[in-house]
Amino acid sequence: MTGFFYNRDMVLRTDRRILVCLFSVTLVLECHSFSLTEFLVGPRIGPRTQHATPKNIKLTMAQQLVNTNGYPFEEHEIYSEDGYILSLHRIPRSKYDKAPLKNQRPVALFQHGLLASSDVFLFRGPEYDLPYLLADAGYDVWLSNMRGNIYSMKHKAFDAEKDSEYWKFSLHEVGVYDLPAIIDYILKITKEHSLYFLGHSVGSTVAFIMGTMKPQYNAKIRLHLALAPLVHALHEISFPHKIFLGSSISLTQAIVSKNILNVFPRREYFSKLLGTLCANGVPTQFFCLIFLYSLVGIDGQQFNSSYIPEFLSYFPAGSSVYLTSHATQMYAEGDFRPLDYQNSFLNYQKYHQSSLPVYNLSLVDYPVTLHYGDGDTLVTAEDLAFTETKLPRIIGKFRVPYKHFNHMDFMIGTDAKDLVYKELISLMNKHR
Ligand SMILES: *[C@@H]1O[C@H](CO)[C@@H](O)[C@H](O)[C@H]1NC(C)=O
Ligand SMILES: *[C@@H]1O[C@H](CO)[C@@H](O)[C@H](O)[C@H]1NC(C)=O
Repeated sequence: MTGFFYNRDMVLRTDRRILVCLFSVTLVLECHSFSLTEFLVGPRIGPRTQHATPKNIKLTMAQQLVNTNGYPFEEHEIYSEDGYILSLHRIPRSKYDKAPLKNQRPVALFQHGLLASSDVFLFRGPEYDLPYLLADAGYDVWLSNMRGNIYSMKHKAFDAEKDSEYWKFSLHEVGVYDLPAIIDYILKITKEHSLYFLGHSVGSTVAFIMGTMKPQYNAKIRLHLALAPLVHALHEISFPHKIFLGSSISLTQAIVSKNILNVFPRREYFSKLLGTLCANGVPTQFFCLIFLYSLVGIDGQQFNSSYIPEFLSYFPAGSSVYLTSHATQMYAEGDFRPLDYQNSFLNYQKYHQSSLPVYNLSLVDYPVTLHYGDGDTLVTAEDLAFTETKLPRIIGKFRVPYKHFNHMDFMIGTDAKDLVYKELISLMNKHR
């Protein structure tokens, strides 16, 4: 245990010098007509924001993807209890199934991970992507979009471009308000009693938060298939992660003070620029790959670099700086708990009690399967071994049978269908 705390202290110490350099460079590049931070991270909140808003970008990318592949697509707008308007995407049936819906189909709900959106599960098409495979296997497929991403940026009272109040949420609110609203809505429309939940990374985290904070919803989850879920990050933190973690902790304070709260939104110019620098055949691709592999784990075989430019047009899709901080807090502390805003007023406003609430995993009594890859440096076998001891109803833990399988391969691994998805479908079929 001492080693564990030592590592996390190191995180905070190592980064100081690197950050001083980073910020000096940033400051040099800041002037009033151009802000490098805004260019790299996201727009400032307030009336000055004219450029770089997602309005210039077509909002129907998911629909185009699904329809181009010949599958029916629906978009549903729903309200969370605290006024956020969320966009849910649906593939109600397979393209091979021309008959209108006669019998009820089991429901599968996808939840994407950090800074992503429903598109990341859809863009490679029916040969590769799980939502289409599930539709073909007879499932009614739904994909959620977290509040604050490109599809779910509306609110009853707040304007995401002007009101900083809009952005004051973390994974906690997604688990406590969004998921229950989404699940109630889907079950009402489909007349089902429960659904299969497929979460990737923090997409699983939010379902665990719901399970502890709103245990009355647990009966509505027939099975939670957790792909590299971030719960307890106990593994020793690698050097590149120390740098990223350390810099994101300090960067967060710096950008919040600049009133930048919407981080890494989908911006066409940014995707195009990165896509060009990282495309096949371009010498700079080397640096993109180094950067990527140092973050998610090295896997040259499952990662098809021809997809980089296309992937970058779907990822990142934006989130709140507080939500990304929540994820970094989990790495820095190794613990599963709500975001500490480091401000007692804000903490009280968010959690309605003077201390932070406790995420008590023993309350999460729906069945769970855990899935991990040995090449994943973000969520490791060690992390999941600990999580496994905390959850009361684990019905299986599955290592992907390929030794370099990393965090991203769950979404875009070339052989993910054979290595993971077929197993998921068979687990779902068995667990009726
Ligand atoms: C990588 O993706 C490209 C474009 O979709 C495809 O033509 C190629 O066959 C893929 N490579 C592998 C190894 O799957
Ligand atoms: C967590 O929940 C279990 C089951 O209700 C309970 O027995 C236990 O005391 C709780 N732990 C904490 C720390 O609240």
